[in-house]
Amino acid sequence: MNKPLRIGIAGLGTVGSALINLIDRKQELLRQRCGRPLEVTGISARDKNKARDFEMGAMQWIDNPVELAKSDNIDCFIELIGGDEGVAKDCVVAALNAGKHVVTANKALLAKHGVELAALAEKAGVLLNYEAAVAGGIPIIKVMRESLSANSVERVYGILNGTCNYILTRMEDEGLSFEECLADAQRLGYAEADPTFDVEGYDTAHKLAILCSLAFGTQIAADEIYVEGISSITYDDIKAAGEMGYRIKLLGVAQMTDSGVEQRVHPTMVPINSSIAQISGVTNAVAIDADIVGQLIMSGPGAGGDATASAVAGDIADIAKSRPGHQHGPALGTPSEILQSYKKARMRAHEGGYFIRLTVVDKAGVFASVATRMAEQNISLESIVQHRGGKNDNNSPDTSTAQPIIMITHETTEQAIRLALENIETDGHLIGKPQMIRIEK
Ligand code: HSE
Repeated sequence: MNKPLRIGIAGLGTVGSALINLIDRKQELLRQRCGRPLEVTGISARDKNKARDFEMGAMQWIDNPVELAKSDNIDCFIELIGGDEGVAKDCVVAALNAGKHVVTANKALLAKHGVELAALAEKAGVLLNYEAAVAGGIPIIKVMRESLSANSVERVYGILNGTCNYILTRMEDEGLSFEECLADAQRLGYAEADPTFDVEGYDTAHKLAILCSLAFGTQIAADEIYVEGISSITYDDIKAAGEMGYRIKLLGVAQMTDSGVEQRVHPTMVPINSSIAQISGVTNAVAIDADIVGQLIMSGPGAGGDATASAVAGDIADIAKSRPGHQHGPALGTPSEILQSYKKARMRAHEGGYFIRLTVVDKAGVFASVATRMAEQNISLESIVQHRGGKNDNNSPDTSTAQPIIMITHETTEQAIRLALENIETDGHLIGKPQMIRIEK
């Protein structure tokens, strides 16, 4: 029988435990498919005595994950600790330097140090796999890194955070508040330890930074991403979007433009009949526009123990099938030394349609002045709706005279929209802040 692949796992939370149980449950299938058994030989976590739902059996417990990463007792190191610095980074670097293959689910680490880690893996001739870091159980890294080798990607975008999609779906379906839905997402275990990472868009941004590098062969540039979260989205926005034929999703979008690469995370209006609009709950989806294949869209569970463990186990199986001396593909699809430097497109140059929701004082001339401010910036309106007797959701004392105005613009620039809204605010007819949501085709 071929020698087993010896696996060391650091981090035994939801995903680590699910992975150990999965490898145990599917050991015969994995052995057949990999041509060798997979054996968890070492584990490490913060607290050895914590109750866990698997038997330790012959697994060696090592308190220090960096020691486990270098141990002679493993061939492959699995990092499920999390965090973009500290022990997670130390043990991944130690494992790569010791010539171990590495699998990680750590998007924050890759978003910050992915290029450096990819270079270390290339130098050591080992695999650095990270399928679970982006969109949970969806095998998007493999598709972008391997299957699309002959394609030039034009745009990659998606719903990359299950917590936000869950919140937006429940707000729409049940008319609940943002806070109620977030509390449920936390209770169900979808949200990050600090939920602002989810709802303010940073988790999506980390995942997008990785996809962007794979798509365009550029250095990872997470700090260059324009990020807006969903905490300012109200039920009134969701309802108004629906009336105009749109649904609101938090999207991460990376797109090649004439002036550079646009990377942005923000609430987005998508046509209600589009595939991406149908993605509900904790489900993630990633869409790719590429020159040869056209459009691909993949959806599936973006969070949760089993879905994430499925992606990690797939990465481990790839390692088990690889052979020493075999030339492994680069971790980021393009060899790290020829990744292009990242050229950022200015957000103000972004072109697209916009949804604007204003709450205005109900008096003569206000509507005309809003229209004038839009016209001054050469913004053409596709549709405009003003409801009678609107209600103000900004808790202004002036609710008796509040009137909502909802506009959809034709394609324009971010610069024009921002100037128009600044001028509308200066005119002093608004109650509360204007809401502006970008439309994605
Ligand atoms: N908190 C993340 C989400 C988990 O909600 O999608 C997976 O990264």
